[in-house]
Amino acid sequence: MAEQDPQSRDENNPELAGHSYDGIQEYDNPTPRWWELLFVGSILFSVVYTIWFHSPQKGRTIEKRYEANLAANMRLQFGEIGDLTADEATILKYMNDEEWLKVGASTFTTNCVSCHGREGEGLSGPNLTDEHYLNVKQIADIAKVVTEGAKNGAMPAWGNRLHPNEIVLVSSYVASLRGQNETGPRPAEGQIIAPWPVPNETNDKAPDDKNQQAFGTDTSVR
Ligand code: HEC
Repeated sequence: MAEQDPQSRDENNPELAGHSYDGIQEYDNPTPRWWELLFVGSILFSVVYTIWFHSPQKGRTIEKRYEANLAANMRLQFGEIGDLTADEATILKYMNDEEWLKVGASTFTTNCVSCHGREGEGLSGPNLTDEHYLNVKQIADIAKVVTEGAKNGAMPAWGNRLHPNEIVLVSSYVASLRGQNETGPRPAEGQIIAPWPVPNETNDKAPDDKNQQAFGTDTSVR
């Protein structure tokens, strides 16, 4: 028994492994039993842990936990305004609400500036501060483009990535950029559209005929 235990091995007279390669011999120093058990144990644990970690249960990965926390925070934040509908009246309402517009602005900063520029002046995406629009005829179309994307994903769809309220608020923010006429690297794209309605006249949804004709052909949101 004592011979098996490396701890009690006679250090001045260690055993040889019994082979010789090119005249080189090797001491027989096996790794201690506890180390082997730890090694095998950690392999077994990794199998169990991998199955547990990737099981479809919610909240296992850091990413999922972050998403759950984010959603909870969002519910808290949006408790005050409830669930918004992405219609003309709502977008106009928050376009004129300084405080909530800041939430829309921060959504824009996080998700949109990489293509539309810090001020909305346009980069790979079109300028959002001028009077020209490619996919937008009325203010509610902004939310539609944001939700569904456009041009086969060149403009990504945000419907699954943003809270519905964020979509409304970022749409309000985008609507508020109109007329700031920031100079960007791209020429004006699309057509000039009718001005946004005044908040109290939101029933008047139809753009005038001239605009409808101008946008009848190439304005479908893809
Ligand atoms: C990966 C680049 C990219 C990102 C990120 C992006 N967009 Fe876009 N966006 C585009 C492109 C490209 C178009 C033009 C699509 C077309 O040509 O029809 C566009 C079009 C739009 C339009 C329509 C403009 C028009 O003239 O009709 C709106 C509104 C818009 N984006 C808002 C947003 C918002 C809000 C976000 C952030 C939540 C965002 N975009 C993020 C690339 C992007």
